[in-house]
Amino acid sequence: MTLRMTMTMPAVPRIQLGSNGLEVSKIGLGCVGMSATYGPPKPEPEMIKLIHRAIDSGVTFFDTSDFYGPYTNEILLGKAFKGVRERVEVATKFGVRLKDDKLEIQGHPRYVREACEASLKRLDIDCIDLYYVHRIDIEVPIEVTMWELKKLVEEGKIKHIGLSEASASTIRRAHSVHPLTAVQTEWSLWSRDLEEQIVPTCRELGIGIVAYSPLGRGFLAAGPGFIQDLAESDFRKRFPRFKQQNLEQNKHIYNRICEMADRKGCTAAQLALAWVLQRGEDVCPIPGTTKIDNFDQNIGALMVSLTSADKAELESYATGDIVKGDRHAFMSQTWMNSETPPLPLWTSMEGSSAEALA
Ligand code: ATR
Repeated sequence: MTLRMTMTMPAVPRIQLGSNGLEVSKIGLGCVGMSATYGPPKPEPEMIKLIHRAIDSGVTFFDTSDFYGPYTNEILLGKAFKGVRERVEVATKFGVRLKDDKLEIQGHPRYVREACEASLKRLDIDCIDLYYVHRIDIEVPIEVTMWELKKLVEEGKIKHIGLSEASASTIRRAHSVHPLTAVQTEWSLWSRDLEEQIVPTCRELGIGIVAYSPLGRGFLAAGPGFIQDLAESDFRKRFPRFKQQNLEQNKHIYNRICEMADRKGCTAAQLALAWVLQRGEDVCPIPGTTKIDNFDQNIGALMVSLTSADKAELESYATGDIVKGDRHAFMSQTWMNSETPPLPLWTSMEGSSAEALA
């Protein structure tokens, strides 16, 4: 597969995410793989070079979390943003942590504040542009978490609030406390479960949609071959879709995308990304990469135009009955199992929440 559509770098458009004035590049950069999750951490100078390359290309929306590393990814970004803070939009997340080697999801107001202050220090910035609840704590009413986030907005520590992997009803409840700017959920040719409820809810409420894993964690870009070469520490080894018996079926999806990419004169990665980019003006995919060549190739997706027939054909390659295996394994909480308890009457006043939950 060649690197077509990278000869001329496209201008990266800017979009409004949500209705509260957050402007970001139409395509962002997912940074987790630079420090964790996808194999060992990558060399810091190279990652800083990649981040600067992205900024110079017009990709200014960076996605991290305190959980990535944990912590080291935020520290890396903090170093990379020295001297260029004004040119970037920084999105980070809180709410998932390792405690005694177990994953814990935390939405308690006291934890929200501590996590935010720690992220600000690691990122070495005064204000986080977009602060997401990484996963929803099903023991804490979402309103209670949002009250604290709203206070952080009022104090100038965060500018915008987002939720990641939240159900439509959680989105509505959270939005009624303070307008959400973005909802982040997996969205790609082979992960489309959000389309029925999450996307229409976001559109009704004017909330932007940030699509993570738009390349199917690399599969839609590189095919089954790369799974065999993954480091033992790479989390993808545990993903159902990458288990051998499922790969046997799923590899046909990749092969068909490659055939169409050949016809269109682009790469499989560009085709898969173009499909997400063209879901709407309110959609911002954040493909992850640790390589400048792949980054350059990915922004070439902005130059791939897809007709309705192209899109329908692509979608037919990866319908629900064709894709084998769940999209998630570790941290298997997704929007589908993330309802929070109703707000008890005695906590119906903002500010009384932290004490009530203590
Ligand atoms: P996530 O949001 O979880 O990071 P993703 O964006 O769907 O997932 O895919 C990220 C993976 O795609 C990474 O493993 C990345 O590998 P590199 O760091 O080696 O680039 C891979 N990837 C990204 N762009 C690619 C491209 N153009 N060709 C091949 N692999 C690519």
